[in-house]
Amino acid sequence: MKTTAIAPSNIAFIKYWGKKDEELRLPANGSISVNLSNLLTTTTVEFNKSLKTDDITINGKRDAKKANRVMKHLERIRAVARIPTKARVVSQNNFPTAGGLASSASGFAALTIAGTKAAGLSLKEKELSILARQGSGSACRSVPDGFVEWLDGDTDKTSFAISLYPPSYWDIAIVVVLAGNEEKSVLTSEGMRFVKSNPFYPVRLSNMGRKIKELKQYMKKRDFERFGMLVESEALELHAMALTSAPPIIYWQPLTMRVMKLVQGIRSRYFPVYFTIDSGPHVCIVCEKKNQNLLIQKLRQQNIQDIIINKPSLGTRLTSNHLF
Ligand code: PMV
Repeated sequence: MKTTAIAPSNIAFIKYWGKKDEELRLPANGSISVNLSNLLTTTTVEFNKSLKTDDITINGKRDAKKANRVMKHLERIRAVARIPTKARVVSQNNFPTAGGLASSASGFAALTIAGTKAAGLSLKEKELSILARQGSGSACRSVPDGFVEWLDGDTDKTSFAISLYPPSYWDIAIVVVLAGNEEKSVLTSEGMRFVKSNPFYPVRLSNMGRKIKELKQYMKKRDFERFGMLVESEALELHAMALTSAPPIIYWQPLTMRVMKLVQGIRSRYFPVYFTIDSGPHVCIVCEKKNQNLLIQKLRQQNIQDIIINKPSLGTRLTSNHLF
């Protein structure tokens, strides 16, 4: 059976940085994110007995390195389904890959849901999230809908993501400013390894439980200003970890810094607006929907054109629009 899934990327408000188990991808702490409506991966999978090897095309290309990680994930799916059959996989992002935007979250969420269904399995959301996590940690958060928490479990079976609120819960906009087009200089897996010897890292970890609790309270009250302040300081803390790791990692580009300053300037003069940044140069700006147009106008005035506007989105879903 041919199956296709559409998965959103997600941006973390409380970040995952560091693992307690590398092999199983168990994070050192829980995290909280929202799915992004306009950063999507579509993936079609078909297991076909006539194939001698897996046949993988990502964004129109057969790339051996990327295919390797996909094949590993297909092995996980085959092990659950107890089938030996090879698969054809075609996957497409709706955003420019040259932009260096991370697509592993949406990519592995789409592959997990299309792949398990194509293999004849009917897994529950929790099982899908666990399987997606094994492919790429943050992919587990792209499975459930809307605002999501990746629970801080200590075992394979207890480390998965759940929906805290549906996408309609909070009318916010997440505007991604593309601030560089290099392929990532340091992989997240390397960055997470380097942080282990960082003397500040234990301090970060000791605060994570409290931070998560606090953010959830602000979300519950829809207290946008307190929520935003915590999200922004959390992003800066992640980068403080990267900057003080050995070797140090600087993910920012000059434009990254310019946008951070601009956001803080708009905030002090006009309306509540905050930024968050993952392990790359791009800046995600978060504001209430009612201020979205004004924000975009302010960005354009500063000649910042390369943006992707998102709202909170559903998680991964099936579609009948197959890619082959
Ligand atoms: O799942 P990965 O390997 O793409 O790691 C994600 C790490 C961050 O994006 C920096 C933080 C997060 O929680 O998404």
